[in-house]
Amino acid sequence: MTYRVAVAVSGRGSNLLALVDALATDPVAEVVLVLSDRAASAIPLAESRGIPTHQLRDHRDGGEWRDQLDSYGIDLLVLAGYLKLVPPEVVKAMSGRIINIHPALLPGYGGPGMYGHRVHQAVLAAGERTSGASVHLVDEVYDRGEILAQSAVPVISGDTPATLAARVLETEHKLLPLVVKAAAKAGRPVATMVDKLD
Ligand code: GRF
Repeated sequence: MTYRVAVAVSGRGSNLLALVDALATDPVAEVVLVLSDRAASAIPLAESRGIPTHQLRDHRDGGEWRDQLDSYGIDLLVLAGYLKLVPPEVVKAMSGRIINIHPALLPGYGGPGMYGHRVHQAVLAAGERTSGASVHLVDEVYDRGEILAQSAVPVISGDTPATLAARVLETEHKLLPLVVKAAAKAGRPVATMVDKLD
């Protein structure tokens, strides 16, 4: 039986599309639902791929989440640019089965308010020579669950938050499908070695 994945989004949806495309050629899992907390541009993208979508009436309402996740028989919930906290009752019900992608090497540069260009701004301000992407398990605290996989990218002299974000995003688009496929094969999210992303 296919491993059934829901993706939660708040914005653009490029990681969602990268995941859907990667699973099209290696269908060990299927994105069967996209949830959002707002009118995200990811929603029409998902619809154009024929994926059912649901804009949450109240993103704090755990019951609404659970109704959706239960009715689609979701095995794994992926947060891909989802900016709100997942309600604690959902984290509990889906314990160990929610992952998030973050555009930095956690545990650095994560936590409340660390999203979008603020992350890359902070990495540059600290003079880091390396950044990257992390996929981690989600618990009740922003960006603090077990790290499952990371991939590093260089910070290049003259980088702006925008150029660094673009380089990190490229690696995110490879890292997330890798972790989702590993989860599908293992039946749950697992720590995944990243040798080389191509
Ligand atoms: C990504 O950088 C992701 O790491 C972060 O939010 C961004 C979402 O981008 N959590 P997209 O919506 O997948 O294009």
